[in-house]
Amino acid sequence: MSGNTSNEDSLVFIDPQSGFEIRPWPASRDGEAATILADSTGEGTSEAGHRAIDEARAEAPDRVFGGLMSGQLVGVYTLRRDGMANRIGNIAVAKNHRRRGIGRALLQDALRRSGRRPLVAETDEEGLGFYKACGFKIVGRRKHPSGTVRYRIGWHAPGLRFKGGSTNSLTHKPVKDQ
Ligand SMILES: CC(C)(COP(=O)(O)OP(=O)(O)OC[C@H]1O[C@@H](n2cnc3c(N)ncnc32)[C@H](O)[C@@H]1OP(=O)(O)O)[C@@H](O)C(=O)NCCC(=O)NCCS
Repeated sequence: MSGNTSNEDSLVFIDPQSGFEIRPWPASRDGEAATILADSTGEGTSEAGHRAIDEARAEAPDRVFGGLMSGQLVGVYTLRRDGMANRIGNIAVAKNHRRRGIGRALLQDALRRSGRRPLVAETDEEGLGFYKACGFKIVGRRKHPSGTVRYRIGWHAPGLRFKGGSTNSLTHKPVKDQ
């Protein structure tokens, strides 16, 4: 367990054109976040949303992020640690704000905060279209005991993937003096 706050975690993202903001969400307002996150849980209840938030905060206090439009909370995600990677724990956008790019902006925010860590997520068939539309690739799949298929999907920060190579093959070639 790590309680460290990194610089990336405390950053606030602001889109100057729309005024849309993404910021670390204060625990004192977890009730609002839980209501929105409800739809990202199998149960669809704000209690389940609360559990998702509590699990993320148990890892570190600053693992919950809120997207605000004109000061109103319209989207939430949790960012979990998963080995060397970061994982989207849960993500949801308020019903009347969907399909306007907010979900994508939240994923991009998670990618930005992940720095060099790969960003991964797990989803069922239903959520797959959204993640794929945002640039995630399937890296694995497994059959859940319930019979549904769960996909493990991943996204690397732009610039870290090279054609025909892995991040391990990156080398820094110093520019020779002229
Ligand atoms: C999934 C969810 C977060 C998407 O948020 P959103 O703000 O509507 O998504 P965006 O508008 O940013 O969409 C980004 C891209 O994903 C696509 N997309 C969004 N929802 C989709 C869906 N249900 N199926 C397929 N594609 C979808 C959009 O068409 C868009 O692609 P495009 O630009 O090529 O058209 C939102 O629908 C939601 O909260 N759902 C309930 C919770 C949930 O299912 N969470 C995800 C699994 S845990």
